[in-house]
Amino acid sequence: MIHLQEIYESLIDQIVDKGYAVGDAFLKEDTLNGLFNQLLTLQESDKMKAAGVGQLTEHEVNKSIRGDKIHWLTKNSKISFEQLFNRQIEAYSAYLNRSCFLSINDFEFHYTCYPPGTFYKKHIDRFQSDRSRILSLILYLNKDWKKGDGGEIVLYPLNEPEVIIEPKWGRMVCFKSDELAHEVLPTNVNRYSITGWLKSVNSENIIQLID
Ligand code: OGA
Ligand code: NI
Repeated sequence: MIHLQEIYESLIDQIVDKGYAVGDAFLKEDTLNGLFNQLLTLQESDKMKAAGVGQLTEHEVNKSIRGDKIHWLTKNSKISFEQLFNRQIEAYSAYLNRSCFLSINDFEFHYTCYPPGTFYKKHIDRFQSDRSRILSLILYLNKDWKKGDGGEIVLYPLNEPEVIIEPKWGRMVCFKSDELAHEVLPTNVNRYSITGWLKSVNSENIIQLID
């Protein structure tokens, strides 16, 4: 069994080297299954809602930009698999802070489903008015994903050819929220994931909106 610290090291080496990282063993199989079942339960009870674009006053639902449905996880969840997930995100953040001199002190994650025919056009995750998002992290929950299912994520590293990543079960993609443009190609099947951000919340990162 691979030690978690080795997985964190590998992810961090990749981020320092290329600005993004791909890892296939971030969470254990039973945690993945628990989270996936919770996502399906939310979907069946109609708790997944259309995601918006932008922030604060800019927030609006725009299906020509993104078509996913989301449900936010909470920090004080009573669900054991969500607690495990939150704890592991905290451990990974602490490791990043120590080894990269970052100041991550918060995170936010949502369950995500892209229904067939939906996508997310090329964009950057950090808002103009709120610079607290440091790293984006997506964990894919697509059992038996196969070519033709679509929904690949395309990363556009600066001055490098684009990188296409298949959204396979258990795979994790992590990248710098402020600089890496990316998009989700149209999916032909329900495309499941947990999507979120490791954040550094302090007054310098929040720019007051003055009308
Ligand atoms: C996002 C996003 C990528 C993916 O939610 O901002 O770019 O692969 N998601 O789901
Ligand atoms: Ni994004």
